[in-house]
Amino acid sequence: MSPDEKLLEQNRAWARQQVQDDPEYFRRLAQLQRPEFLWIGCSDSRVPANQITATLPGEMFVHRNIANLVISTDTNLLSVLEYAVTQLEVKHIIVCGHYGCGGVLAALTNKSFGVLDTWLRHIKDVYRLNEAVLLQTKDEEERHKRLVELVVATQVRNLAKTTVIQRAWKTAGRPHLHGWVYGLENGLLKPVFHFAPGSKLERIYMFDEP
Ligand code: CO
Repeated sequence: MSPDEKLLEQNRAWARQQVQDDPEYFRRLAQLQRPEFLWIGCSDSRVPANQITATLPGEMFVHRNIANLVISTDTNLLSVLEYAVTQLEVKHIIVCGHYGCGGVLAALTNKSFGVLDTWLRHIKDVYRLNEAVLLQTKDEEERHKRLVELVVATQVRNLAKTTVIQRAWKTAGRPHLHGWVYGLENGLLKPVFHFAPGSKLERIYMFDEP
């Protein structure tokens, strides 16, 4: 059996098992999607959103990209965000980074990765803006960890800069914005940053009528 055929075979076994455990499972899910969470995570295959949070299909709306970045010109992410906030009315958005992130490590080198350079530039900017603080941490691995946390916090702040979030905060008093980091070595999620609805940014980023 080829690897792709194996996936299809595993899928059939999984679907069979679900119906055995709960005969209404697919009928119920097909009717309505009402997740409470939007997850913005890294594309890394070792950080699967549902598995590490033990959530089921239907519980989490998911967007993943390299190094879990929130870029103000990314129409893909902005579309996911708009839909999750205004249509699904999610109550929590989680930006989840992870220690040992290949995207963050790549951004710290002077190597060119082709089209990826444009994407990773945003991480280099976070490094540059926080270089003095980061260099206070002498241990290289620890410094990488701090940068991963700073990148996550910056993405949460980027979410708060969007019209979508500022409007939802003003009109609906949601969602909460969370920055978490996942440890590949222990499987644990660590909260590193939180923006409650209505949190303040620098004045220049605040819209009067979002
Ligand atoms: Co990563």
